[in-house]
Amino acid sequence: MFPELTRDDVYRLETARLWLRWPRISDARAIQTLAGEKAVAGMTSHIPHPYPVGEAERFVLSAREQNAEGLALRLVITQKGAGGEVLGMIGMQPDGAGSAQIGYWLGKPHWGRGVATEAAQAVIDAAFTWTEISAITAGVFLANPSSRRVLEKSGFQNHGLMLCKAPARGGSVHADRYLLSRRNWASLKGWRAPIVEGLRIDARGTPQMEQCVAA
Ligand SMILES: CC(C)(COP(=O)(O)OP(=O)(O)OC[C@H]1O[C@@H](n2cnc3c(N)ncnc32)[C@H](O)[C@@H]1OP(=O)(O)O)[C@@H](O)C(=O)NCCC(=O)NCCS
Repeated sequence: MFPELTRDDVYRLETARLWLRWPRISDARAIQTLAGEKAVAGMTSHIPHPYPVGEAERFVLSAREQNAEGLALRLVITQKGAGGEVLGMIGMQPDGAGSAQIGYWLGKPHWGRGVATEAAQAVIDAAFTWTEISAITAGVFLANPSSRRVLEKSGFQNHGLMLCKAPARGGSVHADRYLLSRRNWASLKGWRAPIVEGLRIDARGTPQMEQCVAA
């Protein structure tokens, strides 16, 4: 599904504050610590809890294999700069005909700074640019308003309910199904600054009319 470009481990995406890159075995300890928290694992459809010893290494090897074969794109979210601290993971995998499912998690100390939105928007742009998928989907547990917000800020729309695996919760749970079509993504990418003259959007997203200055 993913092109030659993403199948090499030098592939990385850069955003204002982040590097998204292939996972390495040296990331395993950070992944184990961050994904090992129940608050993180409990909101995902693939992270077990308690987090088994050796699971992070197994995950890294499997992610690298899937990336190399173009079956998925799983990237570590790291802080730009000297240490390149591991903040979490983001990934995409096929989801039925012509679409891919996005998933992500961040270690708890890194919540609330817009990191997930920044990483998700970079991966969404990359996926629509370098693959031919017609849509990106996501499943969000009903009790996860912050992830729902990440998707809404990225242009996703609610498409009903689905059942999702929840290994850290010992079964399956109901989740909202979200979808971003290529058509909507293309429209949002072209819709930049307000096109109404004299209109400004403040930091809270509220439209403000510019003061008229008398000549
Ligand atoms: C969900 C998660 C990735 C969000 O990461 P994040 O970097 O904190 O997200 P962002 O800061 O980019 O955006 C979060 C948004 O949710 C909002 N939010 C946070 N808590 C909220 C709540 N209880 N109710 C409503 N909105 C909430 C924030 O205000 C922000 O929106 P804003 O920018 O409009 O203010 C992170 O909490 C996480 O990893 N959770 C555990 C794993 C998980 O849920 N993964 C996703 C599975 S679908």
